[in-house]
Amino acid sequence: MKRTNSKEVTLSVRTFERLRTLIQKRTGLDFPDEKRYLLESRVKPRLRAQGVSSFEAYADRLETDNTGEIANLVNAVTINETAFFRHPSQFEALEESIFPELVRRHQQHRTGPLRLWSAACSAGDEAYSLAILIREALEPRHPRLEYEIVGTDIDTEALDEARVGHYRKRSVRNVSSAYLRDYFDQSGDTFVVKPSIRDMVEFRPLNLTDARDMRKMRNFDLIMCANVLIYFNKESKREVLQGLYRSLRPGGYLFVGGSEALGELEVPLEAARYDGALAYQRPTNGSLPSRA
Ligand SMILES: C[S@@+](CC[C@H](N)C(=O)[O-])C[C@H]1O[C@@H](n2cnc3c(N)ncnc32)[C@H](O)[C@@H]1O
Repeated sequence: MKRTNSKEVTLSVRTFERLRTLIQKRTGLDFPDEKRYLLESRVKPRLRAQGVSSFEAYADRLETDNTGEIANLVNAVTINETAFFRHPSQFEALEESIFPELVRRHQQHRTGPLRLWSAACSAGDEAYSLAILIREALEPRHPRLEYEIVGTDIDTEALDEARVGHYRKRSVRNVSSAYLRDYFDQSGDTFVVKPSIRDMVEFRPLNLTDARDMRKMRNFDLIMCANVLIYFNKESKREVLQGLYRSLRPGGYLFVGGSEALGELEVPLEAARYDGALAYQRPTNGSLPSRA
């Protein structure tokens, strides 16, 4: 029989409860009971980095921390899976229907630059996909169109990667060979986003569950907030969606993940269906009780 090492550091149910409450309050991310071992494996390296020998000591330290360890914890527990053009039918809907509509509206109402936000952008793949699409689909037809593309995430390490713009083959699996040739430099196994695309996007830290952060994000024509709401509990999800709603211009569009649906969450967004993709539009006359 395999002997267990009595000194092995494990995450007790009680300390799991402390850590998950702290993470939930700070990020909205929900770690249900069955994810205790996942949390344990993600947090364990932070014990060594902090020079503590148990999860209990680590949790104590976090409660009085003023060294920024909480940010390291957040970086350690986020799930950053992403890819360029991750849900291809969403980008087709953008190119064929949504961008033309947004441009028409901008030309009619002179609302300033077209504003696009990749919320929870991880290593930047989605934000750069938007930049490539603008360059390909909008700039040739509307050379004077102004736009802003912002990528935000709570994970500061992912944002550092995004700013550098180096990717593995897996991340660019949905990128056509023509786009790979035109918008990336290849160095061995690494695909490097060309500066002309990199310079189109600004990356900033932002916590979707922080009302102060969210108040700074206003007047977006398009928000992509994919594959993150699934990690929040119902209450956080509702708050984040209300924040995203307020961040959209009337008539602006929201995409969530390709297999996510919003359901009943008290947000007056209207479903807009495209071939293989579902977007949500803020009605031109819709409103929520204002908190700003
Ligand atoms: C699975 S990735 C999705 C990336 C990209 N949106 C996509 O669909 O490919 C989830 C991202 O959400 C970020 N995230 C988690 N909680 C967050 C929060 N409260 N505020 C902002 N970003 C958050 C994580 O750091 C991670 O990069």
